Amino acid sequence: TIQLDTAFLKNAIRTVPDWPQPGVMFRDITPLLQDPKAFRLLVDVFVLRYMDRAIDVVAGIDARGFILGSVVAHQLNVGFVPVRKKGKLPFTTIAEDYELEYGNATVEMHTDAARKGDRVLLIDDLIATGGTMMAAARLLARLGAEVVEAAAIVDLPELGGSKLLRDAGLEIFTVCD
Ligand code: PRP
Ligand code: ADE
Ligand code: MG
Repeated sequence: TIQLDTAFLKNAIRTVPDWPQPGVMFRDITPLLQDPKAFRLLVDVFVLRYMDRAIDVVAGIDARGFILGSVVAHQLNVGFVPVRKKGKLPFTTIAEDYELEYGNATVEMHTDAARKGDRVLLIDDLIATGGTMMAAARLLARLGAEVVEAAAIVDLPELGGSKLLRDAGLEIFTVCD
């Protein structure tokens, strides 16, 4: 196996304290995306991990999950489907609600975005409480698809999301915490 320098990726992520509200340490991936070497390394980590896993489709989560998800789908030579915030998808949809720190939110998918038995790679930028990733996984389960792995760039393990997702039976992959 090839050892990739994931410390380099971690160093390319900026932490902004007290944004968007006091007490939050916001992990800003924009410097990583802006650095072509870091962005390429990030994509390579994902492509090497999933190239032999018979992925049928990549599902990326609105909005930050679209950036990495679409590039990985392209490199794996599979399609990309969006998991979107409520009210953005025009065709027939299914919806799942989830909890945020304050209030709730809803994600949706098109009913034809995945089919029974499809092997799906689910991608977002970050796992905090895990609510977003869990809701997306529930949508895919309702379509009969198999989530091969739920993957993100960053895990915030102290928020318990990755544990919650693993306890629910999902395979989780993250590059740094
Ligand atoms: C952020 C982040 C993840 C999610 C993680 O998205 O991009 O999708 O929160 O939090 P959780 O694990 O507690 O659910 P956000 O909803 O802020 O929107 P964005 O991706 O559109 O910026
Ligand atoms: N989404 C939820 N918590 C976050 C954090 N700390 N940084 C970036 N995105 C987030
Ligand atoms: Mg997001």
